[in-house]
Amino acid sequence: MKLTKKQPIGVFDSGLGGISVLKELHKLMPNEDFIFFGDSKNAPYGTKTVEEVQNLSQQIVTKFLQQNVKAIVIACNTATSAAAKKLRLTYPELPIIGLEPAVKPATLLKPHAKILVMATELTLREAKFNDLIQQFANQATIYKLPASKLVEFIEKGDTSSVELHAYLLDLLTPYCQKVDAVVLGCTHFPFARRVIQEIMGPDTAIIDGGNGAARELKRVLQVKDLLQDHTHAGSVCFENSLQTQTEIQLSRKLFENDF
Ligand code: DGL
Repeated sequence: MKLTKKQPIGVFDSGLGGISVLKELHKLMPNEDFIFFGDSKNAPYGTKTVEEVQNLSQQIVTKFLQQNVKAIVIACNTATSAAAKKLRLTYPELPIIGLEPAVKPATLLKPHAKILVMATELTLREAKFNDLIQQFANQATIYKLPASKLVEFIEKGDTSSVELHAYLLDLLTPYCQKVDAVVLGCTHFPFARRVIQEIMGPDTAIIDGGNGAARELKRVLQVKDLLQDHTHAGSVCFENSLQTQTEIQLSRKLFENDF
């Protein structure tokens, strides 16, 4: 596999959530060309089996390879839990960056922090996440909160409705004033950050893994001498398995606005 600086970077998610990661990638590496693929036709991934998510992820990677990408970002915690290991074994030369709930930065906030991790059922039940929390078991108290329905709100472009607020209020009220940090362990969730912060109050830190993934990709591309030239004007191209203009417009809206 011959990789060069000029090739694009493929970024994918089960749907539109990964755009929260794409924003961080583009901010840190504005000279790169990104192809974002949202698999909205098959969203949500979080309630599927590991095999189903592995197959869907493999199909997207095959498509990206036909588009001649130099690296792939799995901008989805769920697909990372289910498929990253297998994909890295299949394509050992291709940089593949995954997402995982940002538990480590949350543990650094203070000694013995109380941390609430919001994610999909699949992410919370897989070994990858349970190994991760095991590593920090002596340093923090970690609570798991499945919130798959939040994915459906964001897929519709809903980041602040009364219904969304009511759903999150119901889910988060038991943890209000009781945790130091909320880790957004699903890439759809940063789009509801304002509502989550409002419910939890200003003293609770809200942390996601998008920036960490962007820094990791930049580091890997630098090591492999695959970063685009500074003179190149980067680009972002949106694709979606639903193939409708609405999805593409919604993708742009999520990319261009602050949430
Ligand atoms: N955005 C995905 C994640 O980071 C999951 C959404 C889904 O369930 O499809 O986990």
